[in-house]
Amino acid sequence: PQVCWLTPEQTAGKQKPYMYTQGQAVLNRSFFPCFDTPSVKCTYSATVQVPEGFTAVMSATSWEKQKDNTFEFKMSQPIPSYLIALAVGDIVSADVGPRSRVWAEPCMIEAAKREYDGVIEEFLEAGEKLFGPYVWGRYDILFMPPSFPFGGMENPCLTFVTPCLLAGDRSLADVIIHEISHSWFGNLVTNATWGEFWLNEGFTMYAQRRITTEVYGLAYTCLEAATGRALLRQHMDNTGEDHPLNKLRVVIEPGLWGVNPDDTYNETPYEKGYCFVSYLAHLVGDQSKFDAFLQAYVNQFKFQSITADDALGFFLEYFPELKEKGVDSIPGFEFDRWLNTPGWPPYLPDLSPGEQLMKPADKLAELWAAHGLNMEAIEAVDITAWRTYQLVYFLDQVLQKSPLPEGNVERLSEMYPKISKSQNAELRLRWCQIVLKNNLEAEYSKVKDFLHSQGKQKYTLPLYRAMWGGSESARALAMETFSATAPQLHVNVQNYVKKILGLK
Ligand code: BES
Ligand code: ZN
Repeated sequence: PQVCWLTPEQTAGKQKPYMYTQGQAVLNRSFFPCFDTPSVKCTYSATVQVPEGFTAVMSATSWEKQKDNTFEFKMSQPIPSYLIALAVGDIVSADVGPRSRVWAEPCMIEAAKREYDGVIEEFLEAGEKLFGPYVWGRYDILFMPPSFPFGGMENPCLTFVTPCLLAGDRSLADVIIHEISHSWFGNLVTNATWGEFWLNEGFTMYAQRRITTEVYGLAYTCLEAATGRALLRQHMDNTGEDHPLNKLRVVIEPGLWGVNPDDTYNETPYEKGYCFVSYLAHLVGDQSKFDAFLQAYVNQFKFQSITADDALGFFLEYFPELKEKGVDSIPGFEFDRWLNTPGWPPYLPDLSPGEQLMKPADKLAELWAAHGLNMEAIEAVDITAWRTYQLVYFLDQVLQKSPLPEGNVERLSEMYPKISKSQNAELRLRWCQIVLKNNLEAEYSKVKDFLHSQGKQKYTLPLYRAMWGGSESARALAMETFSATAPQLHVNVQNYVKKILGLK
């Protein structure tokens, strides 16, 4: 399942085939022989020969083209097996900063350069100021073909991202900031087992939002964090709060064949993990002291793989006065409870600095959920200047209140073509979810088009779940769309969709 071979039709340019690898979590064992556990780190080198007219790139420190279409790679820092990655295709590059370039198929390169020219360095510098030196040399970005199953994958020196990020207005840069944050949390300090994946993702969400605060300010960061919290709410509502995956430390028990850690993927390690790290910051009570702790944590454990006990032990050592106070066993907030009890986070960081951005969206969603629409009040709200994440937040509220009273969604769709006809992937996802929850058959084609246009797991699975849980016609749409798009999807995503549709 590790090495993905794409036909020309499965690429953006549709001219030449493409291949790429995706290692996380335990797929690289089918790429090369290795100790395929995040607890082992090593350097690597590779020699890759490709056909004429193709270029190879890897997650490596150095990249050299030799004669005979042969590329030499060397990663000179120790990394876990899951971070070794290769892509080969008709790809070209363009500089976007002093240590950064974008890679993409020729038909996407202009858009890629336009989207990120000049901003990557600002993110890297903010990260270095907060968390210490960026040790990986270059930070390049590869824009993948549309079927890439993730928003981003933090392959060192060369992040892989979905082309959905090319929104034209930098509005989805949070994914880039997230992957940059893994340069310290995940790639330098690594979870020793996949059962403690939250150490990678929870710390990274926290780091991402620290960088976002520095670059875009606190109000915007809180708005983005609120959309993250809404995702956690949706996830826990779907699975039930008590689900064993809704704790930070997941038991990955070996069954007959072992449990595939990919099957444990969900919002909890991200957003509950974020809440736990925010709680640690709250215990410290002073942002600059907590930032200094994060830097010390990276320095203490760099190039190592650690458990949550290592991380929390270091926290208590670093703040002996907190250790003395027994902050690890405050009733209701015990560290042990955070790690081992499923459920909604016992502490939520204060997102009220984002209220100036969220309040208008909350109010507008309420207006649209009413019986007998108050069009005067609705028309008085001007959304033309709203940021993408404000619209996302608004749509999440509308989705939560759906199905809306008869006729309201049709009116909403007409009133805001900026939303219902948007090409922005985050808006398209929400709009499709609203279409399905309200069974708006007139706009089913948008669901179909969106699923044909890309194969990101976090967009694909919620839509198939919504279709399968919907009307007869929604189920038919699911079957029709899946049989047309299955060959384009990553094999893991294909299998998850099959499960949803009862085909497996
Ligand atoms: N490392 C993850 C992607 C991943 C996780 C791949 C588990 C395979 C198994 C990456 O850093 C990530 O979290 N990407 C998110 C970005 C978002 C949280 C901003 C994504 O793809 O949506
Ligand atoms: Zn991540």
